[in-house]
Amino acid sequence: MRGGLLGELLPADVAAVDDFGDSGPAAAMPLHPEEARLISGVVAERRREFTTVRGCARLALTALGLPAAPLLPGRRGAPIWPQGAVGSMTHCRGYRAAAVGDAARFLAIGIDAEPDEPLPQAVASKVISPRERAELTRMTCHDAGIAWDRLVFCVKESVYKIWSPLTGSWLDYADADVRLRPDGTFTVRLLVQAPTVAGVGLETLTGRWLAARGLLLSAIALPTG
Ligand SMILES: CC(C)(COP(=O)(O)OP(=O)(O)OC[C@H]1O[C@@H](n2cnc3c(N)ncnc32)[C@H](O)[C@@H]1OP(=O)(O)O)[C@@H](O)C(=O)NCCC(=O)NCCS
Repeated sequence: MRGGLLGELLPADVAAVDDFGDSGPAAAMPLHPEEARLISGVVAERRREFTTVRGCARLALTALGLPAAPLLPGRRGAPIWPQGAVGSMTHCRGYRAAAVGDAARFLAIGIDAEPDEPLPQAVASKVISPRERAELTRMTCHDAGIAWDRLVFCVKESVYKIWSPLTGSWLDYADADVRLRPDGTFTVRLLVQAPTVAGVGLETLTGRWLAARGLLLSAIALPTG
């Protein structure tokens, strides 16, 4: 299943579904009772994003012929995908998205979406290294219309969504060095000892980014070995 913004960033055999509000088909899909229990009593916005993003994920699972099972949080909050699937979900103001791949083809998928707005200074100083800051200055000369510091944050969140389910461990923003390219690709070098998982080394990850419709998107699909 393709279409939307997210589909532009992922290989053709990854099912990508996104939604720009909470009134489309994804939002109308009912939650499983276990999921509904998890969000009973939460604020309305959290209920909407939780519901719509799971609708996106179920549409993606169905497109791949996989069971549209409940998507509950596992270790460190990473969603537990049905047998045979790997995937990732993201939501931010005005956007919800899910990507799902066949576990025989992909070891992990990590996606993130952020508003295309500069990071607050206090956050930027924790997330952006001096080397990345110097590169962002060059990127701003190339295109001043993109919040490059937020894009680095976005890429790092998508890295964490790959790293966390595969390793079960924490990764700090300072542990990843992001190199963005104007052509919509990026490379991330991990600055910590990165394990090899199922024959695939995690020390360098590559992905694609996009700035459109007031949003920044990052996506990594890590193939199996
Ligand atoms: C977990 C985290 C990455 C989520 O990112 P976010 O921008 O806050 O929120 P998003 O809407 O993009 O993503 C939320 C979804 O991510 C998924 N998620 C949560 N924890 C996760 C984890 N450990 N691994 C993979 N996916 C996770 C969930 O599906 C969640 O949605 P849900 O609660 O409705 O199920 C972020 O909150 C966080 O903890 N970051 C700190 C770690 C980090 O990013 N380090 C950088 C390393 S370079």
